[in-house]
Parts: sequence; structure tokens; C-alpha cells
Amino acid sequence: MASISLQSRGSGTGAGMDETERASRDEIMALQTRRLAWSLVHAYDNVAHYKKAFDRAGVHPSDFKRLEDLSKFPFTVKTDLRDNYPFGMFAVPRERLVRVHASSGTTGKPIVVGYTRADIDMWSEVMARSIRAAGGRSGMIMHNAYGYGLFTGGLGAHYGAERLGCTVVPVSGGMTERQVQLINDFRPDIITVTPSYMLAILDEFKKQGLDPRQSSLKFGIFGAEPWTNAMRAEIEAAFDMDATDIYGLSEVIGPGVAQECVETKDGLHIWEDHFYPEVIDPDTGEVQPEGEKGELVFTSLTKEAFPIIRYRSRDLTRLLPGTARPGMRRMEKVTGRSDDMIILRGVNVFPTQIEEVLLATDWCGGHFIIELTREGRMDEMTVLAEARPESWDGSGLTTHAEKVSTFIKNTIGITTQIRVVAPETLERSLGKAKRVLDKRPKA
Ligand code: DLL
Repeated sequence: MASISLQSRGSGTGAGMDETERASRDEIMALQTRRLAWSLVHAYDNVAHYKKAFDRAGVHPSDFKRLEDLSKFPFTVKTDLRDNYPFGMFAVPRERLVRVHASSGTTGKPIVVGYTRADIDMWSEVMARSIRAAGGRSGMIMHNAYGYGLFTGGLGAHYGAERLGCTVVPVSGGMTERQVQLINDFRPDIITVTPSYMLAILDEFKKQGLDPRQSSLKFGIFGAEPWTNAMRAEIEAAFDMDATDIYGLSEVIGPGVAQECVETKDGLHIWEDHFYPEVIDPDTGEVQPEGEKGELVFTSLTKEAFPIIRYRSRDLTRLLPGTARPGMRRMEKVTGRSDDMIILRGVNVFPTQIEEVLLATDWCGGHFIIELTREGRMDEMTVLAEARPESWDGSGLTTHAEKVSTFIKNTIGITTQIRVVAPETLERSLGKAKRVLDKRPKA
């Protein structure tokens, strides 16, 4: 694999897999070892934060000889990035940046990330690879409904599609009626959008009396938020299309860190030639063996402007061996973030578990919100679950609701109240869905 240079290379026009996708595990690991050594030096020499953090931990980039040595290096967390707002984590002079993005976060200042021309080139390459793995090919039309702007979704998918040779329709999120009109008129093959907003598009198809199965869409690339295989089945059946999962985060690059292959749909292959994954025990920080669940941690291998070393993503998953791309490991679908986890009277529960149960019914199409309240000293959870229009009779479907509540009690072990609400009463997200409404008084 000596022929793979540190610089990114073009991924072709979609004719087939690139050289790295066909590489063996040993070849990928040799490449990672070389690239990691470079990335550690690059971060240490050019970012004051990394120099300080490595020195404090008593490690030096020269201590890195083998991949296992990475565990000696300190983690990077969100507050490190926030403390260096806006441009303190950059490893190149600001003039060399061709773009910045920012992730809003829920509180305080956003996290700012930056890209050199070579970084944008690498990102376009991994995104092109992702779209191709999802079924996309050169010459296809791609309807891109990820938000454009500071969010990485829109522009990230856009550049990847152009690189692959697709015709991009840069719609961004929102104006759902127009989304449906453009899908009908332009006849795209691919759609890129959050899964929750895809459900809103589905509703609009039905509202306009159109059969979504007759639409031109063949491949959907859904991500930016957790979603379940039950949701995949719902969307695939509704549109008669193949739906795959795309993962990424701004701090690491944006979308295109990992992508599910359409031929296997068995978890997401991580593009390990650019992003090195570890899974750690979130409490102890210990690196977990392959197959064990924990928190995903990433180190960038080739990024120039914003190298990131052992970044704690808060996303929970496990690593599995590669299948469709044998040299690169897979990550299981992310079940949720450690900060999304609801602890209700001692039981941990993720919104995705509720999604799975609701989609197993025939009356709920996947729109729901979890409300947390406090009665006295007891936390209460209520799930507002929206009925499908064809199931709604105005009655509140109380027997259906009770069945779901009993099922959740028996399987997840928590007491919840299920309130079935009329079609089109819950607010639709235009991008990432907000699943939890915490109405408990702040401590
Ligand atoms: O959401 C990048 C992206 C855009 C990914 C479009 C996929 C498609 P951020 O806004 O920085 O970046 O949010 C990153 O979103 O740490 C996860 O918690 C969550 N996330 C992203 N993709 C998935 C996914 C983009 N496929 C955060 N499944 C991450 C579950 C996801 N969660």
C-alpha cells in the first residue's frame, strides 16, 4: 500500500471502489500508523492546546510507535474546543482556511471548525465514497435537503455529490411543499436528509394525494440524528427505496466519517484511512475490545486545519469487523448520545428504544415527543405519539396506547404514559429532530 500517499486522492467518477476501499486490514493499519504519527506531530507542533495537554500527560508524539500507543495520549472534549473559541484550535494560519463551519450546541458558544483546501478535498472524497456506497452513481440527480449554512450537512453532501459526478439540487431544509414539487418535477434518484424530516416529506406526499412509491427516489442517505432499523423499514416501504445510514460530526469533518453499504445494510463502515476510531468505557476511559459497547472516540489522520486527537464524541456504539469493505471496521448504528440518555427512576432509556416500539404498531408513523415532568419528587415520562391519518378516529386510541405502555413496562422496565395525538399536531423538525422535552424544574 506504499502507493497511497498522505494526500487525499480522487475517488473516480463512481465506476467502482477506490484503492483504499479494496485494501486489506493490514494495509489499512500500516497506513494508519504512518498517518497517525504525522497527525500527532502536526497537532503538537501547531496547536498550543495539544502541546500543553500532551506535556501535562507526560507524552510526546515520538512515544507513538504502534497503533496501541495512541491510548497514552489525552482525550479532547467539547469544553477544550469551546475554551479555544473561535480560532484557537487551528493548526494553520487563518489565511489558509478556505471555509469554517460551526455546530450550534445547546448552550453557550458554538464550536468552530475550519478547513484548508486539502481538507475540503479529502471531505469531498469521503462523501463521494459514502454516496457511492449508498448506491449513488455518477450521472444521477441528488436532492439534498440537509441544511446549508454553518451546519456541515448541506455543503458536505453537496461537495461529495459533485465529486462523484452527480447533478445536485441544493434545496436545503424546509418548505416541505416545494420539496415534494421538486422531487416530482426533477425526478432525483438520491435524497439526502435527516430521517425525521423524511417523514415530514412523506406526510406531504400523502397530503398532496401522491403515491410516494411512484416517486423517482431510489436511494436515501439518512443521518445527523439517531434512527432505528424500524424507521428504515418504514421509509423503505413507503418510498420503495433503499435507505442507508450516514454518520459524522463537525469536530471530525462533518458527514462522511462512516457510511452504511447498500449491499449489506449491516452498520456503517468507518473511512479508517482518514479517521481512527476507538471505543472507550465512558466512565474509566479504558479502550474497549472490538465488539464491546461504549463511547466512540476519533482521531483525524490527515486533516490540516483542525487536527483532532482522541475526541470524545459522546455517541454510544461498538466496533465490528469490516464486511463489504473488509479493510475498514464498521460501527453499529448509534443508539444515542450519552447526553440524550434519560434516566427514569434509575432505568436508562434512549429515545430510539421508544421509536422502535412505536413503529412496531400499525397506528404510529414515527412522529413522537418524550415529555419529562416531575410530580412531587417523582419523575414522570409521557410519550406524545402521533397517529397515522388512516388510523385516527378522534378517540385517542386509548386501548392502543395502553398496549404500548404495557409493552414498554415489560421490555424496557419503565412506567410511561402514552398519549396518542391527532395527525399533524406535533411540530416537525426541518433538520435534527428534538425528541425530548424536559419540563422538570431545574435543580
Ligand atoms: O450531524 C454531521 C452530519 C450531517 C452527519 C449530515 C450525517 C448527515 P453535527 O451537527 O456536528 O454533525 O452533529 C454530530 O450528530 O455526534 C451524533 O450525535 C449525531 N449523528 C450524526 N450522524 C448520526 C447518525 C452532523 N447516523 C452528532 N446516527 C453526532 C446517529 C448521528 N447519530
